[in-house]
Amino acid sequence: MKKIRKAVLPVAGLGTRFLPATKAIPKEMLPVVDRPLIQHVVDEAREAGIEHFIFVTGRNKAVIEDHFDRQYELEVTLTERRRFADLEHLERDLPVPGQTSFTRQQSPLGLGHAVWCARDIIGEEPFALLLPDVLVQAERGCLGQMMDAYREINEPANVIAVEEMAPERLHEYGVVGAGRTVGKAFEITSMVEKPARGKAPSSLIITGRYILQPEIFQFLETQSWGMGGEIQLTDAMIRLALSQPFYGVKFEGRAFDCGSKIGFLVANIAYALARPDIGPKLRKNLEEILRE
Ligand code: G1P
Repeated sequence: MKKIRKAVLPVAGLGTRFLPATKAIPKEMLPVVDRPLIQHVVDEAREAGIEHFIFVTGRNKAVIEDHFDRQYELEVTLTERRRFADLEHLERDLPVPGQTSFTRQQSPLGLGHAVWCARDIIGEEPFALLLPDVLVQAERGCLGQMMDAYREINEPANVIAVEEMAPERLHEYGVVGAGRTVGKAFEITSMVEKPARGKAPSSLIITGRYILQPEIFQFLETQSWGMGGEIQLTDAMIRLALSQPFYGVKFEGRAFDCGSKIGFLVANIAYALARPDIGPKLRKNLEEILRE
């Protein structure tokens, strides 16, 4: 079975839900504690063994490219000030030269279209897809857990991370139907993007982490407009599922929908509380605020 080496990270969204913060800064650069959202997602992919990162960008996203590059003035200043620990951290986060790609989605035509923009860079390999709106806090990263399940399945299959969601929120997500359990995964029997209220096949939503076979691009190529007048990835997956298996993985950990203000704020608190350097102090401060 082919190793999964490449990951697609769609970062072309406008981030209108975070205006005015995102007027001049991409939402993917908003910090969760002291690392940009996108860096957390790259960390998760790296931990899972991903070697090449493909960013599908759009207008006003150039700073994402800069973030994954050297910053010489900063390095010189940090060296002069003997801030070697900071320098080392920056060095550790740098991607390997030649193992990032940036391609543009010129028009916001939907997630399916964004993924399709990466087809030439992916080629004929299975690949990972991580939506940077979603952060998963877990001992072993979400994509890593999916890779374990994928290796266990040991056939060219598609794997999707899923989580339980309250019935009143199912219509905001892609939802899967669940079949037979296979090791750490289960067979997906159906998928629907943003089901009408009461029409979801289960309470398991698609979390924003995928392992996909390259055949998905054939379906994205001819995919017609779906929900919200956009090219939907889920619609192309439904067609691919007629000829290839799809498995769901209920990952261990907690997912934060950082595309919403509440999700983003709660992610900041949860990630900060987990940090030994600031967690205890933050907890004390939060307790004080909550008592008032
Ligand atoms: C996308 C997917 C959806 C998935 C969600 C996870 O929707 O289309 O299936 O459940 O991400 O965040 P979006 O959030 O782009 O509307």
